Amino acid sequence: MTKLYDRNEEGVVTLAGHNVRDLVEQFGSPLVVMLEDEIRERCQLYRGEMAANYPRTQVHYAGKAFLTTGFCRLLQDEGLGLDVVSWGELETAIAAGFPPSWILMHGNAKTYRDLERALEVGVGRIVIDNDTDIERLAELTARTGKTVKAMIRVAPGVKPNTHEYIATGQQDTKFGFNLIGGDAERAVQRIVDVPGIQLVGIHCHIGSQIFEAKPYALAIDAMVEFYAKIQREYGAPVDEFNMGGGLGVNYDEDTPPPAIAEHIAVSCKAVLDAAKHHNVEPPLLYMEPGRSIVARAGITVYTVQSVKKIDGVRNYLSVDGGMTDNPRFALYQAKHPVLAVEHMDEPADEVWSISGRCCESGDMLQRDVKLPELKANDLVALLYTGAYTYSMASHYNRVAKPAVVLVREGQVGLLAERDTTEDLLRLDRIPEWL
Ligand SMILES: Cc1ncc(COP(=O)(O)O)c(C=O)c1O
Repeated sequence: MTKLYDRNEEGVVTLAGHNVRDLVEQFGSPLVVMLEDEIRERCQLYRGEMAANYPRTQVHYAGKAFLTTGFCRLLQDEGLGLDVVSWGELETAIAAGFPPSWILMHGNAKTYRDLERALEVGVGRIVIDNDTDIERLAELTARTGKTVKAMIRVAPGVKPNTHEYIATGQQDTKFGFNLIGGDAERAVQRIVDVPGIQLVGIHCHIGSQIFEAKPYALAIDAMVEFYAKIQREYGAPVDEFNMGGGLGVNYDEDTPPPAIAEHIAVSCKAVLDAAKHHNVEPPLLYMEPGRSIVARAGITVYTVQSVKKIDGVRNYLSVDGGMTDNPRFALYQAKHPVLAVEHMDEPADEVWSISGRCCESGDMLQRDVKLPELKANDLVALLYTGAYTYSMASHYNRVAKPAVVLVREGQVGLLAERDTTEDLLRLDRIPEWL
């Protein structure tokens, strides 16, 4: 595994050989730094291990974890497909020149415009999530004379052991057609009756931050049984099974990174066994990882703006970012290791809470982490911020989104500029009577 960070002789953190203070001086603070080698290594691991364990495979990166046009180029270079859920994610890929046929469109609330655009550019697969998708695709394909290749999203009724906000495969979910109770089967019947939709596969995604093999095994068996049934009873020409993403990432420095290779080997074997058991040829197998590809590749650097110590209560370090660039702590009290960027050789004998700059007491980045004595203008860095941070960024309090840079040995390039004042005001209008 690539070493994520290093420190130079002065005890300053370096990323792919770049001094973090120099990066901040060049690109400003806060700054999101993405490690190219780490991302490529994960992409190659997914592709290589899947190919080694299963006859026909596809890896589609889940764009919701982190997506910019430059990042699409990197994905394309690594031969990964892309899962998008919105018009904006689709346009990002198209603007990057990403091949539309490598794109798969998801969404529990796709708009007519999302679907229309998906057909217009010719995305590879549309994942049908609900009845409206079927109706709209029937209308759009009839009107344009086009045919779409589709998968059906199924909620297999499996509840993984993860935070309720990121569990998706259980019975009580807004996503997809439920297997239990027969909704999924009834939807297949409706889909195969639409001449413009070619149902090529089935899809499930049971949730995110999953560490156990059990829920995957249960979902795989239920899905392959369903696959066999619709092949036999509905004559649907299904040949693909997309088992979604969701492999967990350890957000602490002491636990080894998630065993991607093991997850793939176990899952592939489960699909092969289930195919044998249900008497079907093994389907083309897709995985859709997001977090496990980018989470550990991201580091967010902040500058301390103020210090508040409340004797016997808490010590606050307030920084120039917060829930606007990383809402993970505010949403799920998610952990991230914190580094005192220029004080790595000093004893970590103070307990600090890292607070964001927004006007919310809940705007915290971490609670009670051990770091050296720090003061205004010092840099702190949160590790493993590559997934579901920048992609969830907001403009609350009209805080600018940070710049994002991609680094590798000897090179640094922007993936996203920092918002300017013009960017922040660009969409504002003043009604004429004011
Ligand atoms: C349909 C779908 N596929 C893949 C993913 C990626 O999950 P993860 O980033 O946990 O791998 C998600 C995440 O929510 C998803 O909704």
